[in-house]
Order: sequence, then structure tokens, then C-alpha cells
Amino acid sequence: MARIPDDLIDSIRSQADIVDIVSDYVPLRKSGKNYLGLCPFHDEKTASFSVNPERQIFHCFGCGKGGNVFNFLMEHEHVSFVEAVRHIARRLNITIPDTYREREASSEAESLAQVTRFAARFFHERLLNSDQGSIVRRYTAKRGLSDETIKSFGLGYAPDSWNDLLNAARKQGIDGAWLVKAGLAKTGEQRTYDAFRKRLVFPIQAPGGRVVGFGGRALSDEDQPKYLNSPESPIYHKSQVLYGLYQARDVLRQQGRILVVEGYMDLLGLHQHGVHGAVAVCGTALSREQARLAARYGKQAFLVYDSDQAGVRATWRAIEPLVEAGLWTRIVRLPEGYDPDSYVAEHGPDGFLKRVEQADSIADFMGHHADLNEPGDREEVFRTLTDLIRKTTNLVHRERYREEAERRFPALQSLLASELRNPGAGRRDRRSPQAEDNRVRGEAPVERGLVQLMLNDRTIAELVERQLEPDDFRHPLYRRIVEHCFTKLGDGETYDFSGLVDTIDDEARRAITELINTADSGIQLEQRARDHVVRIKQKRLKESMTRLMEQIQQMEKGGRSSELTEAMATYMELKHQEKALLQSARGD
Ligand code: UTP
Ligand code: MN
Repeated sequence: MARIPDDLIDSIRSQADIVDIVSDYVPLRKSGKNYLGLCPFHDEKTASFSVNPERQIFHCFGCGKGGNVFNFLMEHEHVSFVEAVRHIARRLNITIPDTYREREASSEAESLAQVTRFAARFFHERLLNSDQGSIVRRYTAKRGLSDETIKSFGLGYAPDSWNDLLNAARKQGIDGAWLVKAGLAKTGEQRTYDAFRKRLVFPIQAPGGRVVGFGGRALSDEDQPKYLNSPESPIYHKSQVLYGLYQARDVLRQQGRILVVEGYMDLLGLHQHGVHGAVAVCGTALSREQARLAARYGKQAFLVYDSDQAGVRATWRAIEPLVEAGLWTRIVRLPEGYDPDSYVAEHGPDGFLKRVEQADSIADFMGHHADLNEPGDREEVFRTLTDLIRKTTNLVHRERYREEAERRFPALQSLLASELRNPGAGRRDRRSPQAEDNRVRGEAPVERGLVQLMLNDRTIAELVERQLEPDDFRHPLYRRIVEHCFTKLGDGETYDFSGLVDTIDDEARRAITELINTADSGIQLEQRARDHVVRIKQKRLKESMTRLMEQIQQMEKGGRSSELTEAMATYMELKHQEKALLQSARGD
């Protein structure tokens, strides 16, 4: 059976009314803003089965089952997801077409997403069906790209033709104007023509996997420019996408270390040699959004840019966003004339990873590339470093950056000491990566309360996103849900969870539907959220303090007095932060 396009599924889901559908099977009566009935999934005499028309989900407080309209049918009729979708489509008189022509997409973004998906498939097909002797296959072979890499990244070939893509699209009922809008075609004086021609094509995917844009590399040196990139569009915002993040997600979550490279081929070269967990900025300056996006998946960032002047300049600019996003940041230095792709090709994964291990601190990097005898350079380095350290909110990082800066530039010591005594600095603490998950139970109610508020109110989710990280939530279930909430915010789409519950795991689905359906429409939701945030932050601070106190006691035993002084200073600082946090919570 043909796959039903995601956006059509979304559209069917949004046109279905869960109260209508459920009413076919279960008598419901209105109760407040919800509907109540006897649960069809377990035996009961008093109604605990609740349907929420506003959020389009159901939840049973008796047996815990919950979900959206599709889940209901799947569970009730014992049918597959696709069958549930088709059932509802029939009921709504929506035909599920075989081509795009027959239906109208419900929004511009959806249509564009269809177009980019179509084009990605088209390019990929063209590459797969090119024989070994063809120009693109010769090129991929020359660059050492395996079939596995080609498939994982959906690489494609834009043929040497003015209208191959346009014609294929028209056959599918996609008008050329859409290709123009997506940056895949251009309009000249006479006619519209394909924008990508005779190029190796890299589909650029949003963190969720959706193709939003393309890069294309020329196959020979005569063809210029070397790389062609799609323009921004309603679905492609360059500052919000990292090439390769979609493929790297799982590895990043496990290893917590992100390699940030410049180019498509750098990323693919590393992948090809088994070095995973890299993302590429693809010719743009690393933005704050990209850094924050990266920080959702890892704790440490390693910048591995080209060793040329442009690379050094770009590295210099990338440091601040990474540090500000809370990532522990290091710079990998490659020998003159190398980029990650050429280095790994020549020295293998071990050689490359050794470079990563030997990465420079920020201070070393700056010291290396500035002329400290020049008063201007010197002042710039000092100012930049001081600013960075002040902006570092993670206290452990902050101390380590400071130590490194002072080691590299002893003259910085007094400057930093006075700067960092400033109580306004570093209000925010992030959990250290090693923190134990041992207080999950005690914290669950606060986390649960906050997650509930976040699910029910986008502005609250945004507020929390500014203040906390998913890792600040100790309970794995709530952490997972928070990650989903943040992703929803990042998607820039509607803040709607009835779609999400199609794909999320059972436990999380039940929790989400329960939390949404038990929310009271109370007052002062935002104040309550703020209180919860403060409590969570306070807990994290207390944990850091406890941990530090344990270390201090160890140090006392070991007689390590210089470290001890430093640890005590950090401890006092944490105390200070706690006080500031509680003061700000009281609003004074
Ligand atoms: P590089 O010129 O360093 O290319 O550009 P590269 O990654 O080493 O590629 P190969 O190995 O020559 O194939 C780095 C990145 O800058 C962007 C691209 O995203 C590229 O991956 N770029 C470069 C452009 O957007 N346009 C260009 O003309 C050149
Ligand atoms: Mn290269």
C-alpha cells in the first residue's frame, strides 16, 4: 500500500473531530470543557473516559489509555495506523490521492515541504540509477562516498539538463512556480529552468528529518560556483539548520560531543571514516540558534574548521555562540592546508580523533592566532576572553575557562578576578554532565507540574525553554516530553500535540494525554510555572553544592590546598547564586 504523505495525515487529523468519531462507539456527555463516557477499553461503572475536544485527545483515568483520534481507532478496532487514517478519511470524504494533483495542500509551508521531498527523491533516484561510468558516479567514487553514505544522507544528482526536474515535477502535478518558490528553479526572460544542474546534491534536513533545502557541488572545476545553495524559504531558515544533525542525533545524545565542521564534504568524509556526531554549518557563520540547537544534543562542542585564514576567522566568530549556548567549547587545529575531509582521508579516524583529543582551549586558540605584542590584538583578546568567561553560565565550565585563560595569559589574572566578582555575572547554572539521577522520585511532582503547564501553554513552554534544559528534568519521562515540547517550539509550527502522539512511545503518550486532560484552567499559570522553575533551579544548585562539598572534604583529607581554596570560592559563589535566585523569585 502506498505511503500516505505526512502532511495529508496531518490534514486528515486536523479535519477529524475526535468527539464525533468516538461518539460512533461510546456514548459521551459533556462535562465542563470535556466529554465523559464509560471507557471502552476496560470494564467500569463510573465514567472515567475523557475526551478533550480542544486538544483533540482522549484519556482514560481508569486504565491509563490515551491518544489522538487515530490511536482510538487503532485500539478500538484493532487496526493498523494506516487503516485508521483511511477509515477517518473515508468518513470525512477525503480521498487519499496517488498524486499531488488531486488535492490542495493546506498551507504554503506544507506545499513547499512536498516539493522539496519530491525533489530530494528525484535527485536521489537519478544518482542511484546512474551507472558506474557516469559523471556523477565517477565523482562520488573519487570522493570516496560509499553507497551507505549516499543512502544515509539521501545524496542526489541534478542532471545536466535545463528542465529534467521541472518536467518530472509537472508530471506529478507540481507547478513550476512551486519549484521557483523552493529555489529549485529559476525564471528567466523566456522560460523557467532548473536551478541545480550537473551537480552532486546534498539535501538539507531539519532536525526532524524533513528536507528543507539543498546544496549542490559542481562536478568539475570549470563549473562555477563550486557550491550552489538553495535560498531561504518559508521552510528553510539557514540560521536554524545544521547539516547532518538529523543523522547524528542518536550518536550525539550518547556521546555528548559535537564536532562542528564547515562543509558538506567535511561532514561526509568524517562519516565515511566512521567518525560520527558531526554537523556542518555549510558556509554560513554559526548562529546563536544553531548553537542552541546543538546544545540540545550534546554538552561539548569541538570546532574543526579549515586551517586557512577564512577558517580561523570563522572559528573565532563561532566560539561565542557556542559558549553562550552552554557548550564546553574546544578548537581542533589541523595542519596548514587541511580540512577535516582531507585530514581524515589521509590520517584515518584514529589520526583525526587524536587531533580532537588534543584540541586547544579557547585561550590557546586565541593566543595562537593573535599577536600579543600588538597592543590592539592584546586588548581584543583580553576583552573577548573576559566577556566569554563572564557569559559562561555553567560554573564548572566557567572555572575551567578562567583557569585556562590565566594559565595562557597570567596578566589576565587580576582583570578576571575583579570582573568575576561582579555579582550580576553567571546567574544561570546548568547541571554538570556527571550529575546523578538519584532524586528522581522526590522531584517528580514539581517536574510533572511544570511539564503540564508547558503542554497546555506555548508561552510557558517558551519561558521554560529560556530558563532550563531538558537535562534539568531528572525524571526520564518528563525529560523526554520536555525535549518534544522544545522541538515543537523550534519547528515554528503550531503547538499541537495531537499529531505528536502518533509517533511517541506509549508511556509518553499516556502521560501527555493525561497531563493535558487534567490541567485545571487555573489562574496565574505563568506565576506557577516560574515558581516551579525556581524550585528546579534551586535543586540543581543544591546538588552542585553537595557535590562540591564532598569534593572539598576529600581535598581536605588529601591536603590539596590550592585546589581547596578554589573549590571553596566556587562554593561561596554557588551560595551567592542561590540567594540571588531566591531573591529574584520574590521579585526583589
Ligand atoms: P570549501 O570551499 O572549504 O569546500 O567550502 P569543501 O567543503 O572543502 O568542499 P570540497 O572538499 O572542495 O568539495 C566549505 C563550505 O562552504 C560553502 C559550502 O557549504 C561548503 O561545504 N561554500 C563553499 C558555498 O556555499 N559556496 C561556495 O562556492 C563554496
Ligand atoms: Mn574539502
